[in-house]
Amino acid sequence: MKHFHYEEIDSTNEEAKRLLGETNESFYITAKHQTAGKGTRGRSWSSPKEKGIYLSIVHIPPKNDYFENSTLYTLASGVACIEVLKDLFSVDAEIKPINDIYFNGKKLGGILVEGRFSKEGLSYLISGIGLNIQKAEHNLDRGSVLPISLEEIIGKEKILDLNLDKFVSLLVEKNCSYFNKIKDNKNEIESKWSEYCLDV
Ligand code: BTN
Repeated sequence: MKHFHYEEIDSTNEEAKRLLGETNESFYITAKHQTAGKGTRGRSWSSPKEKGIYLSIVHIPPKNDYFENSTLYTLASGVACIEVLKDLFSVDAEIKPINDIYFNGKKLGGILVEGRFSKEGLSYLISGIGLNIQKAEHNLDRGSVLPISLEEIIGKEKILDLNLDKFVSLLVEKNCSYFNKIKDNKNEIESKWSEYCLDV
C-alpha cells in the first residue's frame, strides 16, 4: 500500500482529500507534526512535533460495494487500534463511544472518520487516527478531558525503543483487514467494539 510521509502538514485527513484526486487505490499518510489537526465535532487536535502518531488511512472500496453509513468503519478503526495496542504493548485500552481511545479514564487517542457517500455507494473513506505517544503540554483540545500518552503507560525506556514504523504498519494492516470484513462480517466488528467499550 502506498505511503506518503510528511515532516509537517496541516492535517493528514485534509492531505488525504487532496491526494484522492490523483489515485484510485488505497493509501495511507503519516506526519511528524500537524499544524491544523482536526478532531471530531469541529474541534482541533493538538499535534505537537514527534509526540504522537498522526495517521490517515484512505480506503477505496471495490466498486458496487454499498454501505449505508460510515459508522461501521468508525467501529472497525476503534477495534483495530485497541487490538494493536494489546498485541504490541499488552496495553488494555478501552473505547469510549463512539471512538475515543481511553486508558484508565484518560484519553490516549481519537479517530476521525470522513467519507464520501452517494447513491452509488461509498467512494472513499478516510480514517484519521491520532495517538499520544510522548507526554506533551497540550495533547488535547478539551478542558474536561484528561490526556494520557503511551509513554506514561509503558514507560520512557520502552518508548525510546519503540519502532514507530512497525506500530503504524500494524495499525494500517489491522484497520484494512477490518474494513474488508465490513461487508460480510459486520457482526464480528460490532461485537468486538461492544466488548472493548468502557463499562458505563
Ligand atoms: C477526536 O476528536 O478524538 C479525533 C481526533 C483525530 C485526530 C487524527 S490525527 C490524524 C488525523 N488528521 C487529523 O487532522 N485528524 C486525525
